[in-house]
Amino acid sequence: MNFSEKYGPWALVVGASEGLGAAFAHGAAARGCNVALVARTESKLEATANALRDVHQVQTRVIKADLATPDAAKLVLDGISDLDVGLFIYNAAVEPQGLFIETSDDELLRNIHVNCTVPTQLTKAFAGRMVARGSGGIGLCSSMGALQGIKVFAAYGAAKSYELILAEGLWDELRDQGVDVMAYVIGMTLTPEFRRRLEVTPEVEQFLISRGAQQPEQCAERFFEIFGSGPRGWASDSLEQHWVADAQKPRSEVVRAMGVASSAAWS
Ligand SMILES: NC(=O)c1ccc[n+]([C@@H]2O[C@H](COP(=O)([O-])OP(=O)(O)OC[C@H]3O[C@@H](n4cnc5c(N)ncnc54)[C@H](OP(=O)(O)O)[C@@H]3O)[C@@H](O)[C@H]2O)c1
Repeated sequence: MNFSEKYGPWALVVGASEGLGAAFAHGAAARGCNVALVARTESKLEATANALRDVHQVQTRVIKADLATPDAAKLVLDGISDLDVGLFIYNAAVEPQGLFIETSDDELLRNIHVNCTVPTQLTKAFAGRMVARGSGGIGLCSSMGALQGIKVFAAYGAAKSYELILAEGLWDELRDQGVDVMAYVIGMTLTPEFRRRLEVTPEVEQFLISRGAQQPEQCAERFFEIFGSGPRGWASDSLEQHWVADAQKPRSEVVRAMGVASSAAWS
């Protein structure tokens, strides 16, 4: 079975209007899947969908939805109710930053809703359908921030950890039923959102690349190269090596080192 026979005819990428999500959409389309795209910004969704049709000659479906709203999962499921989705990638995230006790309750709950509740609802819906048809794939985007506590991004790291562990558990539950699930551990990626937040200049970009930062297309391509190979995929070998090295160190050292980096990104 080739990629689109196993994971097509439709892929759904949640958080697909730009950057990494758009790159996942292109990766699925390049492998012969039609693509449904979810995000908030209609103009960017349409631009990405146009590019997918032009470049890959696939069908597209745009679903404008804010994942932070209570009925987000229903909106997404209603939007694809007539499509046979064989690949589901949950890429969108909110990233509250700042000291935990100074973060509003609304923001903390939005973090749980967008990063935990909605992916849980959608994963459950798609996993059931994929088991029924005997094939499919689910990718949940996690982060290096999920592998240890992360100062000033504490709630975000905890939520990304939920996605990581959920995907690993489902890999084991579903692997004998034709459904591949992978937690995708992502490191620094030069997405438009990342660039906006950190005000990345060309000099800073070169520095970050020298420290392992990836372009969104690189990160997405790697996902497709390794998808189906196990419960946890790494966006690069060096991320995995970093994690292996950290496992040998005292936990306090690992958490504090991450805290130095995350505090620098925040201030
Ligand atoms: N960038 C990094 O350095 C990095 C590092 C580690 C992990 N990650 C993980 O990689 C994934 C993508 O990262 P990213 O945010 O930098 O890049 P991105 O994929 O370039 O952009 C995020 C996408 O999600 C959509 N989105 C965000 N909030 C949404 C909401 N409330 N409702 C609907 N759609 C929403 C955005 O579109 P709209 O704005 O149009 O809604 C956009 O299409 C996330 O899971 C993140 O945790 C990223």
